[in-house]
Amino acid sequence: METKKLNNGVLIPCIGFGTYKTTVDDGYTVILNAIKAGYRHLDTAAIYNNEEEVGRAVRESAVPREEFFITSKLNRNRLGYESTKAEFEESLRKLGMDYMDLYLIHWPRSDYGRDDYDSWEDLDRETWRAMEELLKEGKVRAIGVSNFLPHHLDNLLKNANVVPALNQLELHPGYLQEEAVEYCREKGIALEAWSPIGRARIMKYPLLVEMAAKYGVSVAHLCLIFGLQNDFIILPKSTHVESMEENLVSGDITISDEDMDLIRSMPEAGWSGEHPDRETVK
Ligand SMILES: NC(=O)c1ccc[n+]([C@@H]2O[C@H](COP(=O)([O-])OP(=O)(O)OC[C@H]3O[C@@H](n4cnc5c(N)ncnc54)[C@H](OP(=O)(O)O)[C@@H]3O)[C@@H](O)[C@H]2O)c1
Repeated sequence: METKKLNNGVLIPCIGFGTYKTTVDDGYTVILNAIKAGYRHLDTAAIYNNEEEVGRAVRESAVPREEFFITSKLNRNRLGYESTKAEFEESLRKLGMDYMDLYLIHWPRSDYGRDDYDSWEDLDRETWRAMEELLKEGKVRAIGVSNFLPHHLDNLLKNANVVPALNQLELHPGYLQEEAVEYCREKGIALEAWSPIGRARIMKYPLLVEMAAKYGVSVAHLCLIFGLQNDFIILPKSTHVESMEENLVSGDITISDEDMDLIRSMPEAGWSGEHPDRETVK
């Protein structure tokens, strides 16, 4: 599996298995099937409620722990210095592991008003201070963020000693967040694409259907190659073994520069509707 070097030298496999909603089926079996299909990079989060299944599948796969790259994420309602430390330990306990490869702040803002911090800006900076300590203590190999737009990153970097290794964003044809992508590239922050096939919402988009036919691949396959050619780390999710295998795309096809530009210029399509600045009051 091809890897990419993060800004602290840690290598991350360019394709990871997304585990969101794998618990709709038997999460453990789905994740074990993904490992059997060849995935070694697994993306979970506290909110996915499947860290125990991820840990169990890793252990029972009989593949050595050090061959895996395990990411989890801090729930947005647990931002803050003390809660970050406690949540990290809880995630590690559920995974049944003694270190994590990557730990991310899931969203830059809490999903409800907090009266124990002056602002989301303070809350994020204090969260990051805890993340940096986890890194220094060797409990995690790399730390990063998810769903951070340039203004969230500007705030974080004001006091940061460590530049986030990675930003996990919704990135797929029809939703390419160019400003955030450009910002991360300038700062040396790797980009990781969540919903790289637009949670299947863009499968019938005519340009993609035509182009997939031209290259002799499925639309899902085309979207994933598009992600990799954009230098994104991609996180496809599937509960079906055939799709898991198909999604482990290799350099079997190359989309031409002209076709890459055509896809990049698609109008907005398939957006999840989830915005990082959405803050609902409890
Ligand atoms: N950081 C964040 O805020 C955030 C948010 C959302 C997601 N994520 C991460 O990103 C991962 C992927 O995102 P996602 O699950 O939203 O969307 P996705 O991977 O873009 O799409 C998943 C959907 O596509 C279908 N699918 C997968 N491969 C296919 C193929 N080869 N052919 C046809 N259909 C296929 C799946 O169906 P079946 O399952 O039925 O096969 C599922 O309905 C998540 O699992 C999670 O790890 C992160």
